[in-house]
Amino acid sequence: MLTGPAGSASVIEHCRRITQFSDEAGGITRTFLSSAMRECLGYFQAWAERIGMVNVHVDVAGNFRAGMPGSGSKKLVIGSHLDSVPNAGPFDGVLGVVMGMVIAESYGDAPGCELEIVGFSEEEGVRFHRPFIGSMAFVSGLGDEVLNLLDDSGVSVAQAIQGFGLNLEQVSKPQMDSADGYLEFHIEQGPVLESLGLPLAVVDAIAGQTRATIEFVGQANHAGTTPMNLRRDALCAAAEWTLFVERTAQQTIGLVATVGSFKVAPDAVNIVPGRAVLSLDVRHSQDAVRNSAFDAAIRRGKEIAARRNVQFRWALRLEQKAVPMNAELTLLIEEAISSTGAKPHRMTSGAGHDAMIVAQHIPSGMIFLRSPGGISHHPDESVLAEDVELALRAGRAFVDNFK
Ligand code: HGY
Ligand code: MN
Ligand code: MN
Repeated sequence: MLTGPAGSASVIEHCRRITQFSDEAGGITRTFLSSAMRECLGYFQAWAERIGMVNVHVDVAGNFRAGMPGSGSKKLVIGSHLDSVPNAGPFDGVLGVVMGMVIAESYGDAPGCELEIVGFSEEEGVRFHRPFIGSMAFVSGLGDEVLNLLDDSGVSVAQAIQGFGLNLEQVSKPQMDSADGYLEFHIEQGPVLESLGLPLAVVDAIAGQTRATIEFVGQANHAGTTPMNLRRDALCAAAEWTLFVERTAQQTIGLVATVGSFKVAPDAVNIVPGRAVLSLDVRHSQDAVRNSAFDAAIRRGKEIAARRNVQFRWALRLEQKAVPMNAELTLLIEEAISSTGAKPHRMTSGAGHDAMIVAQHIPSGMIFLRSPGGISHHPDESVLAEDVELALRAGRAFVDNFK
């Protein structure tokens, strides 16, 4: 078994090497079916072929796929995503695919269960503003609603798939084969494990999330000649609304709400802003709380717009319910973590993961690794080698008992 310094060093080294595949120089940005993603897929295909895996391919949604026959009757999929946010860290997503490959590689002969390692092509939703395209294709195929989404240069998902040389006709069908379980290793991306001094967690549920694009449209005008009482300032309306969103989240236990993107036009020092386009991301482990907070934000947007004589528009980008992980798998994961000598912490994930899509079709579970500094979606994102080693041991124990 590749554990100990060899195993964790191998995992971290692979993740570091994969950072070279980026859409942009000077940082890690890897988006859906970009040329950097093609290089990343090539890296995993070469690795899988080198270690003798079977059915190594990229499916019609751009997901990396590689199999390893097992001696038992069950099949386990181990996966995560290969795309990233802009200026990302080296471990979000990639770590889960690399962990699967290193665990598969550690079996000289057939593992107890059949393995399939999957690297999903699009989880963050950067290019088409729609997350989970890879895992949705995996479990259910892609319909026109997704295929017709456009990126910022007007290219559709369907055109991106065709342009990548993939077979569009097949993409409406589920790409997965039947499986008995799905296991995703992922960095926690938050401060909890570090605050508890623990290396690993088992995820019991993944918080639901609502994402939307928000727009305030006022009147661009001369900054010097337009009196304050005659302005229809889109930026000030959006700013007032943003602070309402923040206050709502601060006053609601367990709720997080983020305006991550805030674009203003014409964006000039001497022009009253005529237009503001923002993103909204609202999350909570209970769907009713999340929905009520989202509805309150929309109501307040309308009130602010009416008072300030500007227009308010919004478009829903994602409504993803909270998803529980499979109870039986979660217990098996807890046992596997305990078998390493580590104390398994049980927690809900505030971050979204492919497991929330896969869990609706295959019994799914997740193992979190501690995020030093609680940092993620940032170049300083990291892992501790000793936590990776424990995760490898837990993963191996899980596979050995998955029969
Ligand atoms: O945004 C998220 O929750 C995840 O990083 N995709
Ligand atoms: Mn992420
Ligand atoms: Mn992720």
